[in-house]
Amino acid sequence: MIEIKNKSSIAKMEEAGRLLSEIFEELSPLICSGVSTASINAFVADQLKKKGLVSSSKGYAGYKYESCISINDELIHGIPCEARKLKNADLVKIDICASWKSYCADMARSFCVGQCTVEANKLISVAQEALDCGIAKAREGNYLSDISFAIQKVVETNGCGVIRDFAGHGIGRRLHEDPEIPNYGKPGRGVILRPGMALAIEPMISAGDYKVVIMDDGWTVKTADKSLAAHVEDTVIVTQDEPKILTRRKSGEMRYL
Ligand code: MF3
Ligand code: CO
Repeated sequence: MIEIKNKSSIAKMEEAGRLLSEIFEELSPLICSGVSTASINAFVADQLKKKGLVSSSKGYAGYKYESCISINDELIHGIPCEARKLKNADLVKIDICASWKSYCADMARSFCVGQCTVEANKLISVAQEALDCGIAKAREGNYLSDISFAIQKVVETNGCGVIRDFAGHGIGRRLHEDPEIPNYGKPGRGVILRPGMALAIEPMISAGDYKVVIMDDGWTVKTADKSLAAHVEDTVIVTQDEPKILTRRKSGEMRYL
């Protein structure tokens, strides 16, 4: 069952999203060569606390950290680690989910460390464009799979792979609610979108094949062919007109922050 959020729930999710997007803005200067993923996570933990946000990942199925940080061929769920230091040209994905007054928002961005390769830059742009096109379909009266189809089209038109094994999701008091939102599929399927639905839309893509494997740590998801991977995520509310994106700052330049 997809819960329709009322005004007061949406207001809390909005605050969660606004505060999360501030954290992403504040952490961009940390994305540089030599910084450990554990220290990025420590910064995130500190900022969450300062803003009155509660991590939704810490304690989730035994996960112990306030962020997931995944590098290069790692797609999602990378575990922060002191020994793991960012290097020039790494493609790093940071995923943070947290609640404000019990209502969650979920956000992820892909960054390049220092000098970016052409391939990494392109992959990030494709993921961002797929996210924008997916969000544009999150409108009253559209079908859920119109979002999936829009994402797949952008990704595959650009010669990249759409990961099948993980999907976006509904969100609210719980981090993962109905519906599941695959990043591929035929249009015109599934439920019809209604105002008040809250969706975490998150294209996960690779420069090569879409198959992924889970590492021995039990969490980190990597591409099976070791190709570069990108992931971006926003939390969105379906309204009577434009989709309301909770996890973006208003200014055009900060579109993905
Ligand atoms: N943010 C991730 C998502 O989009 C979930 C992270 S929870 C964790 O679903 F436990 F895996 F970290
Ligand atoms: Co998510």
